[in-house]
Amino acid sequence: MGTAIKGRRSGTTTVLGEVPRESTAPGTVLLRVYRHNPCAVGDEPRMTTFRVPVAKGMTVLDALLWVKENVDPGLAFRYSCRMGICGSCGMLVNGRPELGCETQIAQLGTDVVEVAPLTNYPVVRDVVTDFQDFFGHHRRAKPYLVRKENGEGAPVTRELLQTEEQKLEYYQFTMCIMCGLCNAACPIVGLDPEFLGPQALAQAYRFAIDSRDQGWRERAEVVDSPHGCFRCELAGSCSAVCPKGVDPGLGVQLLKRLVLARRMGRR
Ligand code: FES
Repeated sequence: MGTAIKGRRSGTTTVLGEVPRESTAPGTVLLRVYRHNPCAVGDEPRMTTFRVPVAKGMTVLDALLWVKENVDPGLAFRYSCRMGICGSCGMLVNGRPELGCETQIAQLGTDVVEVAPLTNYPVVRDVVTDFQDFFGHHRRAKPYLVRKENGEGAPVTRELLQTEEQKLEYYQFTMCIMCGLCNAACPIVGLDPEFLGPQALAQAYRFAIDSRDQGWRERAEVVDSPHGCFRCELAGSCSAVCPKGVDPGLGVQLLKRLVLARRMGRR
């Protein structure tokens, strides 16, 4: 029989699977995975536990793949590149937003690994979450260069040169892979689903500060709104979890400075 535990989502009681939590064996970990299919009538959130053999360098994503291939083909999770580039495999690993493909089990320092869907996103099934709102917020921030000399959207017909200093102003923000971990860690995203969030705001800053961009007026109207950059209370958790070393919290604060300059007619 399983053991009743308190689930992390909406206070639901969940039940362990067939493997007792206290069970251990050398060279293995207990992988506890959140399971839920919101579309299936009567399906309740629960945790299922699997014993997984651990090899050197094995990641949490590898462990999920092992379960899918050897025990439970129905387990749902998302991934693509398996090398920290595509941003598909975001998940909570022992309560922290991580990329499953970049998180090695040996480095977690525990023989019980808990995997759950990212917070602040609706669950599609098991560890898969819905990024529709995330991408919508990203689009609203106009995450591209706007040029107007030939009409907006028309091809640029000359080379747009930049100095090294101009490039370095925005360069770190180009490293964003849109994995969504920052929004999962943000307490304001959890309170206000309309909040643009650290990812979209940092990208708005990335283009606003680019010397080649001419879209600040339209972009500023989006970020200087009730759900824009001043909703951020500088928790800093977004920057703490970014797997690519980006500092979206810094981007949001610098964006606030641009917005204030605009309000004072200086930009
Ligand atoms: S699978 Fe692409 S970032 Fe993890």
